[in-house]
Amino acid sequence: MEKYRRHFLVCITNRPPFSHESCGPKGAADVLAKLQKGLDRKKLRELYGVAATGTTCLGLCESGPNVVVYPDNVWYGGVTVEDVPDLVDSHGVDGKPVDRLLHPDVE
Ligand code: FES
Repeated sequence: MEKYRRHFLVCITNRPPFSHESCGPKGAADVLAKLQKGLDRKKLRELYGVAATGTTCLGLCESGPNVVVYPDNVWYGGVTVEDVPDLVDSHGVDGKPVDRLLHPDVE
């Protein structure tokens, strides 16, 4: 098993309509796909061990799509596909969190 230097976990939970909110219906799968493509295009996984994986609920459902990056312990909320290039270039390449996307409920 490959050990990642930096790992983006994107919540892609899909709950049924009329139940508790979830990230999936707000475009989380598209965020994950674009993030994975962006990391691949820059060879970040291959060269630097930076990866993105879908995951289940991160517990902040109302503000999704949510993304957490380990081992940095940086949380992002309300991420859209338009935000992905900044995540790849700033956090993925340079290791600098994207301040404007930081989750307001996580210190
Ligand atoms: S459904 Fe995504 S954080 Fe709970």
